[in-house]
Amino acid sequence: MGDPRSLNDWGLTTPEAFRDQAFARTVGVLTRDELARLGNSRVAIPGMGGGGGVHLIALVRAGVGKFHIADMDRYEPVNINRQHGARVDTLGQPKVDVMRRDALAINPHLEIKTFPRGIGPDNLDEFLAGVDVVVDGLDFFVWKTRRALFNRARALGIPVVTAGPIGFGVIGLVFTPDGMSFDDYFDIHDDTPDLEAILKFYVGIVPAMLHRTYAMPRHIRLEDRAGPSISGGLMLLAGVGCTEALRVLLKRPGLRPAPAYWQFDVYRQRFAGGRLRWGNRGLLQRAKIWLLGRELRRRGERFRPRPAPPDWDGAGLLPDGVKNFLVAAGVQAPSGDNTQPWRFEWRGADLRVAVEPNRDLSFFNFRQRASLISLGSVVENIRAVASRYRLEVNAVPNADPLSMTLRIAPGPAPLDPLAEAVWERDTNRCPFNQEPLSDNARNALTRAIADFSGARLHARTDPAGVRAMAEAAYWADRARVELRSAHEHFHRMTRVDAASARATGDGFSFRNLGANAAQALFLRATRPWTVNVLANRSRLNDMVALHARALIRSAPFVGLVTMPGDGDADFREGGRAVARVWLTAAYLGLDFQPVASVNLLLARLRSEGPGAFPSRAVAHLRRAEEFFRAAFPEVEDNNGLILLFRVGHAPPIAEGTFRRELSTFMVK
Ligand SMILES: Cc1cc2nc3c(=O)[nH]c(=O)nc-3n(C[C@H](O)[C@H](O)[C@H](O)COP(=O)(O)O)c2cc1C
Repeated sequence: MGDPRSLNDWGLTTPEAFRDQAFARTVGVLTRDELARLGNSRVAIPGMGGGGGVHLIALVRAGVGKFHIADMDRYEPVNINRQHGARVDTLGQPKVDVMRRDALAINPHLEIKTFPRGIGPDNLDEFLAGVDVVVDGLDFFVWKTRRALFNRARALGIPVVTAGPIGFGVIGLVFTPDGMSFDDYFDIHDDTPDLEAILKFYVGIVPAMLHRTYAMPRHIRLEDRAGPSISGGLMLLAGVGCTEALRVLLKRPGLRPAPAYWQFDVYRQRFAGGRLRWGNRGLLQRAKIWLLGRELRRRGERFRPRPAPPDWDGAGLLPDGVKNFLVAAGVQAPSGDNTQPWRFEWRGADLRVAVEPNRDLSFFNFRQRASLISLGSVVENIRAVASRYRLEVNAVPNADPLSMTLRIAPGPAPLDPLAEAVWERDTNRCPFNQEPLSDNARNALTRAIADFSGARLHARTDPAGVRAMAEAAYWADRARVELRSAHEHFHRMTRVDAASARATGDGFSFRNLGANAAQALFLRATRPWTVNVLANRSRLNDMVALHARALIRSAPFVGLVTMPGDGDADFREGGRAVARVWLTAAYLGLDFQPVASVNLLLARLRSEGPGAFPSRAVAHLRRAEEFFRAAFPEVEDNNGLILLFRVGHAPPIAEGTFRRELSTFMVK
């Protein structure tokens, strides 16, 4: 390739000559007269992110000559998936500068005024001065700025075009000075609370909700002001913004201002449009806002909220805020029946994490094995989250095998991709949908244990292996319901609803356990041991074991993590390996449930013999063991059986678990 030739070499020495050639291929869609008028038009684009960036480029290539562009942000790695100017070489640079450069590289005759501090009450009029149309590129969540801008533009007689990315599609909405106002359409006013305004904006821009069949609402994070989007959907915005802006600029017919709305979803190959005569005050819109609000409130109960990570540049001693953040990450760990059996103690930058032996008195927690597994999760949670501060966490064993010391020091730790999964991970007890795991997912789960020497992941994805495991779970559950202390412990940890789970901060609600109203009633009725005994004798409790079997049969993947031996250290290190597998599943969007009754009961049978169990349970356990061996013939009798689990795809859980106050875990 030779050097780029200058415009002079092409004979394009004047702006007119340039326009004539550069936009020659537009003639036919637009006339030369229209092109000349566009060259003199001024478009204001607030926001140079995903939307604003492609709007600017589309309008530059359409021939618009003058722009006001505003943005106060700089490019970050998370912008790469969708923002025009986000490239490795522009990371850290102001978005307005990069986009201005890119626009001028396409047409050097542009007139571009930048607003590097963004827009606000003090510069709205300057931003709108001499502007013919506004094309909205503001972030979804900045409703106050958007409202101020739209209302001011209306007062000044300037139309505003909004094109919003919704999944694999786009919505179009145009506000004109003589159409419906922003406030009337969205029913948003000075005193509208923040969350309600965001909900109303959302429901107002997508009344048709075409994307609802495939969108994954759990990724809308109101607390982070972040929602998902994809380049293909986002680039459709350019088409909408450009077309509607040109219709306004060229006074072409067909403008349909609010309350008209439309949505085009490419993925579903559907177009929907209409008129919201009463805006969001219409009955149907009000019902949607109410339903969505209820859904979000429920989600608040379903998900453990992530505290905002404190800002820290890594200089000096570990600040208390960061220390608390790390412990908060630690206590997101799973634990048997959500007992949260941990103690934390800071000694400078060393964090001692120990099992609190009296918190989990379950039959399953023989030799604190369940708690040791959970301790491993605490360690891995903290290690993953510390990486966001580039902190290296070195987990060293102590003389007390039920504890570890985490040496935390600044290091070159790369950002751990699993850091966010710490807050997203949960236990999903719904039936899975049998859709097989991809090769990538299977490989990632296997690789997850690579750092733990001796740890092995045994996976079963073949129907025979999965069915054998389902039988093992059936018999282990029949044994479990015969164990009085396991029964009583389980019922100490169940809570009637989310409110009482929230109040104690531990245990789990019946809905979290996946029980519907009838199942919850059954569980409550069999709570007294005498009633449970009757339920065992009458084989009513078989329902419980049959349910466990059905759950495993629904799974495309059953896994078992083993360690070479079954000492304390094996369970602690094995617990860390399990934690990485669980976090990897969450990271990949897969659902996970431990089926610990099988491995913990068999492990106990192996180390203590049948004398440790009531005789009615022993026969069942022997059957469980037969099926277990059939499922995992390669596992040796002296291997530590750390955790058995199933992985697959399921609907989101109906209700999540809670955690106790951080202070209750701390050794003073
Ligand atoms: C060692 C261990 C064993 C567990 N066993 C089971 C189990 O057999 N079945 C189950 O549904 N959940 C099991 N769990 C999951 C816990 O009940 C769950 O982690 C806890 O209630 C917290 O909820 P979360 O995982 O959704 O945060 C186990 C967790 C651990 C750490």
